[in-house]
Amino acid sequence: MFAAYLILTDEIPHTILKSMEINSIIHGDCIEELKLFPDNSVDLIFADPPYNMQLKNELYRPNNTKVDGVDDEWDKFNSFSEYDDFCVSWLKECKRVLKNTGSIWVIGSYHNIFRAGNIMLNLGFWILNDVTWHKTNPMPNFLGTRFTNATETLLWCSKGEKCKKYTFNHKMMKKYNGDKQMTSVWRIGLCVGKERLKGEDGRKAHSTQKPEELLKRVILSTSKKGDIVLDPFFGTGTTGAVAKKLGRNYIGIEKEPDYIAIAKKRINAVNIFSPEAEWEEENFTGFKI
Ligand SMILES: C[S@@+](CC[C@H](N)C(=O)[O-])C[C@H]1O[C@@H](n2cnc3c(N)ncnc32)[C@H](O)[C@@H]1O
Repeated sequence: MFAAYLILTDEIPHTILKSMEINSIIHGDCIEELKLFPDNSVDLIFADPPYNMQLKNELYRPNNTKVDGVDDEWDKFNSFSEYDDFCVSWLKECKRVLKNTGSIWVIGSYHNIFRAGNIMLNLGFWILNDVTWHKTNPMPNFLGTRFTNATETLLWCSKGEKCKKYTFNHKMMKKYNGDKQMTSVWRIGLCVGKERLKGEDGRKAHSTQKPEELLKRVILSTSKKGDIVLDPFFGTGTTGAVAKKLGRNYIGIEKEPDYIAIAKKRINAVNIFSPEAEWEEENFTGFKI
């Protein structure tokens, strides 16, 4: 457990803050840890679960160098039904802890998003949008046996058909998008360059670190300042870093201690940023984050 440190809010609108550690990372299995959360306690959930890639063989480029794919232990399941059971368990808990006014985003590739989406519908979540993340710099299809896979899907859902009071900052997102309504296709590059966290060996610290721009759109559009954003698959803490920048509170759950150490260091280095204040300025020229 980590000491909570409260930031950002002038007022504390959440009674829950008394019993839950906000702005902290919980080390453990998200299914077990979520069971300890009270009902209706978080405003927004962003979940980037294992993809269950089912990679059987190592992949090499034409020049014989090995492709650094997602072959981590945390992505391995014995069968599709084991993966489905896993998704039912964590999604059920997410539904229970999400406020009726909240919403959830689940991101995945073609390997898992249809399975997760089907389970979400069966659990009663209500799809508000399926956002396509169009990767502007995708990894090539080295074998030349398929089209280059350049998308992932984000399912944005309310807790149920009748839960209509979810947050959507329509005006802000329009402003963000040069005074045009933002569409459900987001063109964003893979996380590369300075943003990509590296280990001491110079290799990627995590195989699936998401770009901050993606989380910026998610959090800005569907939460308010001071809200609690939960990420049950925290990885390198992208959700926590962006939540902090945007004046939201976060709770992360992650089962690998090495990733937790990376995420803590990353989030501690973040400066808080206030997009709402900047947005209200007359000479608004876009968010700088
Ligand atoms: C797809 S990655 C998330 C990457 C993250 N969005 C980022 O930007 O760094 C999934 C993460 O979930 C963690 N994980 C897998 N199963 C878990 C479980 N049952 N409970 C908690 N964390 C889990 C893995 O260790 C991995 O870091």
